[in-house]
Amino acid sequence: MAPYIGTATSRVDGLAKVTGTAKYAAEYNAPGLAHASMVGATIAKGRITRIDTTAALRVDGVITVLTHENRPPLADNDQAYNDDVAPEGTPFRPLYDGRIIFNGQPIALVVANTLEAARFAASLVRADYLTEPHVTDIHTKRDRGLAVKDPITPLDALFAPPKQRGAPGPALDGADVRHDGEYYVPIEHHNPMEPFASTAVVESDGRLTIYDKTQGVQNVQRYLCSVLGLKQDDVRVISTFVGGAFGVGLRPQFQAVLAALAARALGRSVRVVLTRQQMYVLGYRPAMIQRIVVGANANGTLNAITHDAVTVTSQHENYYRQETGWSGLLYSCANAKYAHRLAKLDLPTACDMRGPSAATGVYALECAMDELAAALKIDPVELRLRCYSDRDQHDNRPYSSKALRECYHQGAEAFGWHTRNPEPRAMRDGSELVGWGMASGVWDAFQAAITVRIRLSANGHAEVACATSDIGTGTATVMTQVAADMLGLPLDSVSVLLGDSTLPASPVEGGSWIAASVSNGIAATADAIRKELLRLAALMPDSSLSGTEADDVGLVDGMLVSRRDNARAVSIADAMRHSAVDQIEREITTNPIEDAARAHNTHSAVFAEVKVDEQLGVIRVTRVVSAIAAGRIVNTKTATSQILGGVVWGIGMALHEETAIDHRFGRVMNANFAEYHVPVHADVHNIKVIFVDEADDSNPLGIKGVGEIGIVGVAAAIANAVHHATGKRVRDLPITLDKLLGKPS
Ligand code: MOS
Repeated sequence: MAPYIGTATSRVDGLAKVTGTAKYAAEYNAPGLAHASMVGATIAKGRITRIDTTAALRVDGVITVLTHENRPPLADNDQAYNDDVAPEGTPFRPLYDGRIIFNGQPIALVVANTLEAARFAASLVRADYLTEPHVTDIHTKRDRGLAVKDPITPLDALFAPPKQRGAPGPALDGADVRHDGEYYVPIEHHNPMEPFASTAVVESDGRLTIYDKTQGVQNVQRYLCSVLGLKQDDVRVISTFVGGAFGVGLRPQFQAVLAALAARALGRSVRVVLTRQQMYVLGYRPAMIQRIVVGANANGTLNAITHDAVTVTSQHENYYRQETGWSGLLYSCANAKYAHRLAKLDLPTACDMRGPSAATGVYALECAMDELAAALKIDPVELRLRCYSDRDQHDNRPYSSKALRECYHQGAEAFGWHTRNPEPRAMRDGSELVGWGMASGVWDAFQAAITVRIRLSANGHAEVACATSDIGTGTATVMTQVAADMLGLPLDSVSVLLGDSTLPASPVEGGSWIAASVSNGIAATADAIRKELLRLAALMPDSSLSGTEADDVGLVDGMLVSRRDNARAVSIADAMRHSAVDQIEREITTNPIEDAARAHNTHSAVFAEVKVDEQLGVIRVTRVVSAIAAGRIVNTKTATSQILGGVVWGIGMALHEETAIDHRFGRVMNANFAEYHVPVHADVHNIKVIFVDEADDSNPLGIKGVGEIGIVGVAAAIANAVHHATGKRVRDLPITLDKLLGKPS
């Protein structure tokens, strides 16, 4: 048996998911459940002068229509609406008043006995507005943005641009080769398979249980309590399974407030499910205009980088991440300078979307590096090796580990990079031009404070509990593996409880930090259980373990075993039975090890092959190799799936995805899967994932996390491959065939 850590363990909830027994937020039922349909504003800015619900109320089966005029009380201060990951500003308040701040904003909730009645009646709600001029196009505000500086909250301070180093201006003037390019990433939406939904169940004692789609049940619970003026015990939030979220579930979404509000108003359970179209009223990846200037010496060493970015946020909140900072971090370069401005638009607030800021910022950097390599006539991999840095360039710290060099070598080897003809348009396959491109990727390796409870029963079963979500990444499986190894039990003797606000405290699942946080939390808690078992074992007469040092005894195959002499062993069951103990329970909070002296990051090297139809401009991504350095990989199967998913996201970012807004109305035009293109199976070909060995001691288990590193660099590798295939550089994403066949840029 075991060890399970490091193996390709299948998902513990896989069977439940594929057989449909895994229940998602909109699948919970309750006696008398009512169904609600949200009505969205049809203007981008202004206020409601009159809202008419009479026709909706006349529909058979309609129970009520909630609007800002008749809603139950809601908190009236910004603080109450701030959640754990809210940016600075004034959070949106659903149904609070008649003010409209973005198109599609909820203005009414129709509650009925059936979903059909609710949706039909919602179509009959009429609003008159006093409209005000709005702006939703980043380009009209590109020179009038709010400078990101002097951040107010500690979270924001983390994301402000790094300070300048050296003297980039003179360095650029003295460079042998200089590249200056502008790169554009449009607004993109997360498009998880499961729509946002909340089922608010009124329990017999009047308390609320909210089955919600979220990345953080306790974040939602705190938010609902403060917005609705309820006590912590009055609201329980459950989110056992999440059908993808990718960042848009980090903040509480308005369907949860609407469901809770209606349930409280009616004293009856209510479900709210957003339609696919309404999902485009939630947060999004901010559009980003970036200018990068890089200067290099003829030998391929960098002497300066400047990175300027303009990103989208709402009028009411200043959302940003460290969009520019990655550029000066990654490569050895003495001079660097950053500037970041926010284009404040009449839209919902932007939010985190897989690899937020790195997916976009590194796209620009890695395209610029490719353009520089071409100008220097140096192989793109070779250029990156010449600029390689073993120290964090911002703070001149060593890394806890950085096996990016091995990523380049192993990725290039697996891809066959050494046979690449550097000339653009030199490689062909029949009527198709063949291009090979590559890029680096980087992400943070975070760990957060987390609390884990373990109950070990004398029958040899362990229950592991933590409020973390499993957003589809495989958290429940990883937790099971780690607990099984640490407690010396088979996998099926471990059960995991998660996604419930009543469980021990967890932060939101995001930033790729949960695998490291919860695994080390389980290890620490299991260790406390081990020590208690050893104490019990030592109480047994003639115990073969009496006198052993605590650290010399491990848990293996249901036994306490001396690591020095495995003949000295006592079964867990005997130790517990002897003291008449049925259950051992420990609950421990694990904090990250303070290690500010070193930088903590994951890295990748991505290699992509594209084939481009020369006449039609159709691009196929035929091969991708992604070599990842992310510390210890707990589960090679689910981790590979994370990277595969990230690569597919990168294909979408490079070639397909773009949220189109009709700026006359400030409204999303392609709020559906027919017109918002994501990669489908036919777009996804051969993807190979390599995990390079990387020993790291930032936490006891050496885990860094892989949820986000998989997308970073992929769009750049593909864009670089398209340039290599065609000789044409398209800098604004997505690279669609009209841009490829149009005028050279
Ligand atoms: Mo991730 S974008 O922190 O869910």
